[in-house]
Amino acid sequence: MKIAMVAAEVAPYAKTGGLADVIEALPKTLEKLGNDVKIFMPKYSLIDENKHKLTYESTIGEMPIRVNGHIRSVHVQKSKINGSEVDIYFIDCPHYFYRRHIYTMDPDEDERFILFCKAVIETLQRLQWAPDVIHCNDWQTGLIPLFIKDNYSWDRMFDHTATLMSIHNIAYQGRFPNQTIQKAELKGSLYYPGGPLEFYETFSFLKTGIVYSEIISTVSETYAHEILTAEYGFGMEKELWSRREDLFGVLNGADYEQWNPEGDPFIPYHYSAADLSNKLMNKEYLIKQTHLPFDKNKPIIGIVSRLVAQKGFDLVAEAINDLMFLDAQWVILGSGEDKYEEMFTILSRSIPDKVWAYIGFNNELAHLIEAGADMFLMPSRYEPCGLNQIYSLKYGTVPIVRKTGGLADTVQDWHELQARGDETGDGFSFNDATGFSLHTTVRRAVETFTEKKTWRKIQENGMNRDYSWQVSAKKYVELYEKATKKRRGN
Ligand code: ADP
Ligand code: GLC
Repeated sequence: MKIAMVAAEVAPYAKTGGLADVIEALPKTLEKLGNDVKIFMPKYSLIDENKHKLTYESTIGEMPIRVNGHIRSVHVQKSKINGSEVDIYFIDCPHYFYRRHIYTMDPDEDERFILFCKAVIETLQRLQWAPDVIHCNDWQTGLIPLFIKDNYSWDRMFDHTATLMSIHNIAYQGRFPNQTIQKAELKGSLYYPGGPLEFYETFSFLKTGIVYSEIISTVSETYAHEILTAEYGFGMEKELWSRREDLFGVLNGADYEQWNPEGDPFIPYHYSAADLSNKLMNKEYLIKQTHLPFDKNKPIIGIVSRLVAQKGFDLVAEAINDLMFLDAQWVILGSGEDKYEEMFTILSRSIPDKVWAYIGFNNELAHLIEAGADMFLMPSRYEPCGLNQIYSLKYGTVPIVRKTGGLADTVQDWHELQARGDETGDGFSFNDATGFSLHTTVRRAVETFTEKKTWRKIQENGMNRDYSWQVSAKKYVELYEKATKKRRGN
């Protein structure tokens, strides 16, 4: 199959979270399964052209693309995604993408991604490459399904091109005033209360993507059910309910070429489930990067995260006094909302033998924490899939999670299973989104850490899990087939 994969972030070029990891890894696996995949992303100024060997796609030349009545000049650059034959195309439009961040609060944020969506379609036209499926990811790509069926429907090349809309996080909906519809040159008549483009009196890119795609997916089965409810749907639940026959959950995989303690280039000591002694060396190495004293009997609880409400840091804040009384050390890497950055900075200064925090984005340190920590905390209020708990399992870094979305699908609570005589648990989890439940669960993990044999068993169970992309990529192929059948009307 010919698959165009479109997203606003792709690792290692530009990344704020798990979406980038997914778009780097999934296409490689799809290609290995015999598909022909091309990736499309914006060319941000923060992408290093030389390092990543970007070259201009000379067969395309300059593309004039109109947004909000202005013609913008667009070029296309090209490269191969890391260690593979998969082509990645960069939509280069300095006017919109040469900014300090991938996502902005600038008044023309809508225009940036209108341009991106149009430019992807026009690049396909100039390449004369008609995909069977355009796989759209998150709101930044949400206008593509409608453009294909409306503004560009004159081009018969797309007659059989289906679209799949993947939701990586339903809270991000790309909502703008209805004037944005004119900027995109879409039909104003499609905007009316309850109509396809209208979402609580705004124009939503994500809703548009959902309405006009043949198939909709999200990144775990539990989340696919959750987003049909008012609690998790962020207002989109009614729309999704009416499309529930077309909505599927496909769990993200992990790229074990990058996230595997047996060969991770970012960690000093490699190890596997058969011999964990080097994990302790990584712990010592990690501790040296911090101001914490080394004590092999004290568990390190690691956090690597965007510091936002989604990730449950309000629960951490609620339980913080109790958590700090536990016999453990904390290594935290993250950036995001001021209040959480401040909370961890203050803790790190006031109890430097217990807490160390690095505020910022640091991929190498993320790998080191996975390797050196004993536990990994992810108490998310909601979690579409979550990748760090999957990486943690592989690194023998026992995850402590709230049982929601992909966390519920990937982490099995040790004590819950053990109570049924089952010794296959690989982590610790809790249901209630309260500081109390969080604290008692972390305490349970810290206490279990002292039972060396049990701990080792929990680690091994996790390390032997296989969340590689193979299985999920095959599920996507099935969805692509469903989508193309639907598009062809059978
Ligand atoms: P989300 O996409 O919601 O942020 P995921 O768990 O799916 O959550 O993916 C997060 C990804 O981003 C992981 O690869 C994680 O290692 C990485 N990450 C998050 N915060 C940081 C940070 N501050 N520094 C380095 N990597 C980070
Ligand atoms: C989003 C979600 C996260 C998911 C990632 C990749 O950022 O918050 O749970 O793993 O997308 O799908």
